[in-house]
Amino acid sequence: MRVAVAGATGNIGSLTAAALEEQGHDVVRMSRSLGVDLSTGAGLDRALTGVEAVVDTTNSTSPEAAEVVRYFGDLTRHLLQAELRAGVRHHVLLSIAGVDRVDGNAHYAGKREQERLVSDGPVPWTILPATQFHDFAEMVTGWTETDGVATIAPLLVQPVAPSDVADVLAELAVGPPRGRYVDLAGPGPQDLVDMARRTYRARGRSITLVPTWSGVFGTSMAGNVLLPGDDARLAPTSFETWLADHC
Ligand SMILES: NC(=O)c1ccc[n+]([C@@H]2O[C@H](COP(=O)([O-])OP(=O)(O)OC[C@H]3O[C@@H](n4cnc5c(N)ncnc54)[C@H](OP(=O)(O)O)[C@@H]3O)[C@@H](O)[C@H]2O)c1
Repeated sequence: MRVAVAGATGNIGSLTAAALEEQGHDVVRMSRSLGVDLSTGAGLDRALTGVEAVVDTTNSTSPEAAEVVRYFGDLTRHLLQAELRAGVRHHVLLSIAGVDRVDGNAHYAGKREQERLVSDGPVPWTILPATQFHDFAEMVTGWTETDGVATIAPLLVQPVAPSDVADVLAELAVGPPRGRYVDLAGPGPQDLVDMARRTYRARGRSITLVPTWSGVFGTSMAGNVLLPGDDARLAPTSFETWLADHC
């Protein structure tokens, strides 16, 4: 099958493109650095020629809710309209488990907008809600780390390996549209502060972690809200195995 991956130079997009190619599919990689800008639509019609399915793994890094909603909204509208013109039969969106349970987070507001546009949109779709990735703790501490000190919210998560997310996206893309798929999570729950500590230790780096609910992640993300549903699909790679392989 000819499958396009939007965000193909990113963390999950690059792994998804590789997973699809490993299965013998023809992959079209899309990102701004590869000449396809979903914010404007530039390069999109050409990229989607002959494409049967699209996997959207793009990202927004703005901390402002209105900006993230606008960014993901523009990008998704351009993508879906171009898919309609190209006769794409399946749109697969990577989303976040528990996205409807969290208020006051800019990124989550943007993901909800993406989900709304996809599920109301003209192209048959699958949404994969994934839990936080195994590298999430390191990403989060990276946002505030200064002189060996970083803030971090004590989130309860059930993280999943990026490569496992990519494998499931590749599997879903070449199958029929599934609507909202079950949550995808890793094998077991983790405490985000502990994940950060173990990641830094494994990398031989020292850090002082300051737990707080006053940063990007507020108390609407406390408790069980980020954990997967009871019917979740559990991916095989544990945080420990991932850490051993990536540090
Ligand atoms: N991190 C987590 O724990 C987690 C958990 C669940 C779900 N997710 C979701 O996973 C998704 C992917 O995350 P990631 O970490 O893999 O992202 P990432 O590494 O930041 O990659 C984002 C990709 O999107 C491309 N992109 C961004 N804006 C674009 C535009 N306007 N036009 C074309 N391409 C564009 C980027 O390439 P260019 O810059 O070259 O355009 C890049 O290839 C996100 O939507 C996130 O919500 C993340």
